[in-house]
Amino acid sequence: MNAAPGRAYDIRPLGELMGAEIEGLNLSEALNATTINEILDAFLDHHVLVFRNQNLTKDAQLAFTKYFGEPEDHVHRTPSGKILPPVHIVNNLDPSGKPTSKPYTTGNYHWHTDKSYHAVPSLATLLHAIELPPAGGDTLFANTRRGYETLPEETKQRIANFRVVHSWEASRRNTGNAPATEAEIRDRPPVTHPLVRTHPSTGKKTLYVGMHTSHIEGMPESESRALLDSLATHTTKPEFVYTHNWRAGDLVMWDNRCLLHRADANYDMDKHRRILYRTVIKGSLPF
Ligand code: SIN
Repeated sequence: MNAAPGRAYDIRPLGELMGAEIEGLNLSEALNATTINEILDAFLDHHVLVFRNQNLTKDAQLAFTKYFGEPEDHVHRTPSGKILPPVHIVNNLDPSGKPTSKPYTTGNYHWHTDKSYHAVPSLATLLHAIELPPAGGDTLFANTRRGYETLPEETKQRIANFRVVHSWEASRRNTGNAPATEAEIRDRPPVTHPLVRTHPSTGKKTLYVGMHTSHIEGMPESESRALLDSLATHTTKPEFVYTHNWRAGDLVMWDNRCLLHRADANYDMDKHRRILYRTVIKGSLPF
């Protein structure tokens, strides 16, 4: 897709695997139905949309997010116990505002799909660059449809009906973080999802794995962990990955139903600040 006659913005694919950049659109202005539908079509075709040259307040990001669904809250609490607001901040800062690589800032540096520990997990996430390191701090996206399609037939058959337990508690463990609090576990008890998920809009099968997984139902833990890890390793091979090198003003919106993602610690996390606004849109029950 490219600039349609009379359309003020361009949609340019970033590659065959995924990704398109959209230039010439000001997301802090109201959008009409035609534009919203064009964005939605591009989102389904390309999975990752990069809106260039934006300068959004939190309110403007929330308003843009609401064109595509209901914003999610987050289970994680601030140190004083408060639930994070719908537009929250992804950063690598300690409580005094200094950059740090301590595990509480690196949960998002492990492959995951957002909020798969929810009974109804996320459809999309939107991340807007506010402050970037001088180089690096990329976000990597892995195509889990390609991952599924390239599995041997016998593996596809073996895993066809497996169900996987996902939990916030397992996520905290898998990322080397402080254990989930009792309030967090109460808010987000473990849930199960199919290991092979069907994308509700495209009908394509994808692998639904990542750092929020605990185990496969009915399988011994070590066997289960080995299988989940090997599927995640397979679908995050470099040939299935798009690396987003952030530019000032980028807003990136991606499809959690067919991608895994993670931030890349390819910058000095103890020296440089990396700050982004994040909103997440509620999805539907995986099948
Ligand atoms: C996320 O996991 O939602 C954020 C990814 C990033 O920090 O690049």
